Formats: sequence, structure tokens, C-alpha cells
Amino acid sequence: MSESTRLAVNGAGGRMGLALARVIAGRDDASIVAALVRPGSPLEDQSSGISTAPRFESVLPAATSFDVLVDFSGSSGFDHALAIARERAVAFLSGSTGLSAAQMLALDDAARQIPVLWAANFSLGVAVLSHLVAEAARLLADWDCEIIEAHHRHKLDAPSGTALMLGRRVAEARGGVHAEPRLERRGERLAGEIGYAVSRGGDIVGEHEVRLSGHGERLELIHRASNRDVFAQGALAAACWLAGRAPGSYTMADTLGLGQS
Ligand SMILES: NC(=O)c1ccc[n+]([C@@H]2O[C@H](COP(=O)([O-])OP(=O)(O)OC[C@H]3O[C@@H](n4cnc5c(N)ncnc54)[C@H](OP(=O)(O)O)[C@@H]3O)[C@@H](O)[C@H]2O)c1
Repeated sequence: MSESTRLAVNGAGGRMGLALARVIAGRDDASIVAALVRPGSPLEDQSSGISTAPRFESVLPAATSFDVLVDFSGSSGFDHALAIARERAVAFLSGSTGLSAAQMLALDDAARQIPVLWAANFSLGVAVLSHLVAEAARLLADWDCEIIEAHHRHKLDAPSGTALMLGRRVAEARGGVHAEPRLERRGERLAGEIGYAVSRGGDIVGEHEVRLSGHGERLELIHRASNRDVFAQGALAAACWLAGRAPGSYTMADTLGLGQS
């Protein structure tokens, strides 16, 4: 393992891929050595602006060696990225959301062979929020929980992976099982339901509110990201942490030493 962590980035031409290139520029503890785009992408063979991976490419050269495959290609590029990491026996870090149950199972399976870290949200604030949410949900076990999220107009999945992660934390903290979200709701609220509301528009980077409503009072826990560099910085720190670990499935809480609440 070299001292500087070498990353191959899948989805390198997307919003998060570009944010990662931005935050890594000028750092000497990590570098991007391959900037992978979708086969047939107009970006293929174009200049990437990354000094250590000067061109976007759709095929990873066999001679390129790296420590971590970082994936921000969404659910459509995820399978290919995971296959590369397994084939090259390197660590795999993914922030792609909207993954199917089969894709999540594939991650678990890969974790028997390589170190794997998937997170719906790499920001420090959301890592702490999820702890606060679990504690509040446990202490206020019979208060109604609604999760409200807002993102930019291009986001494909809904509710967001972060909203679903927060919902799962609430369900686990209350000793229950997270149910499939209902986005179309009519009539009275179902007892114990974790409700979701989704808003899309403009360039909103990501906002999540967990609202716990009792009788005569309510508690609101809110995180707002105003710059996607926070996700890129968190992903970069997590990738450096993951490189060279033993095979297994790791979480953001592991990287931050937060433990599960
Ligand atoms: N975990 C976090 O902290 C975090 C934060 C923000 C976003 N996200 C998630 O990260 C993912 C990407 O978000 P984004 O805003 O960067 O989306 P984006 O701008 O659409 O970027 C995704 C990129 O992946 C490319 N791609 C698709 N299939 C591919 C394949 N087979 N191989 C290589 N590249 C492929 C797309 O190319 P084309 O456009 O040519 O198809 C696009 O450039 C989403 O799932 C989003 O929800 C996670």
C-alpha cells in the first residue's frame, strides 16, 4: 500500500465525481488515478482536469493499480463498479443511492472478500444527526415520526437514501422493522408509521428534517447541506480510512469512531 491513497472513481463526470476531484486537488495523502465514466458517455477521452488521471475513460486499464474504488454513479453504474472492486480485490466505497435490495445483498456478499463501505450520506452532520434521531425516537417512542426531505431537480430516487437511512434508524431504535414508505397518503395516519414527504427543485443540495410530533409539542431535527463538497470531503476521509482494511462491511460511524447508538 502506498502512503498516498490511490482512488479509481466511477461516475467521475457527475456532480459528486467532480466534487471529489475538487476537494482532492492539491492534497498529497490521496489522488485520483482513474476517472471512469459510463461507456458511450460524451465525456469519454475528454480532459478530466485531474492531473493524476488526465482523461475520462470508460474502461479501467489493467495496468492501473489503486487502493479504493469509489462509486458515485448511482444505481445504474453501481454493479459495474462493485464488479471491478471484486475483480481487483480492492476496497469499495459507494455513495450511490436508490439501490435495489439485490444490490444491497451484493454489497454484503462482497464484504466477505473485500472491505466495503456504503453510505447514503457522507457528511459529518448527518452522521451525528442519525445518532440524535435514534436517541430521540427511543425516548419519544410513541410520538409520530415524519421525515421531510428536499433535493435538486435532477435527483432520481425518492425518498432520498438519507431519508430512508434515518427512517431505518427510527424503526430500529423503537425495536421495529422499517416498512416500505408510502408516498401517496390519504385518510388518517397509520399507527406507528414512519411518514415521508419529498420536495424537488432548483439546486437544493440536500435537506433532511426528522419531525417527532407529540400532543401539544414537537421536536424537529434538521440538517441542511449547502455545498456538496461536504459529501466529497467525508467520502475522501472514509476512503483513506477504508484502504487496506480487512474484508468486511463498514459504516460511517466506524470511520468516525461514533459506534452505533
Ligand atoms: N452518499 C452521499 O453523501 C451522496 C451525496 C450526494 C449524492 N449521492 C448519490 O450519489 C449518486 C450520484 O449523484 P450525483 O449527484 O453525482 O449524480 P450525477 O451528477 O447524475 O452523476 C452520476 C454520474 O454517474 C455516471 N454513470 C452512470 N452510469 C455509469 C456507469 N455504468 N459507469 C460509470 N459512470 C456511470 C453518469 O453518467 P451519465 O450522466 O452519462 O449517465 C453521471 O455522470 C446518486 O445516487 C446520489 O443520490 C450520495
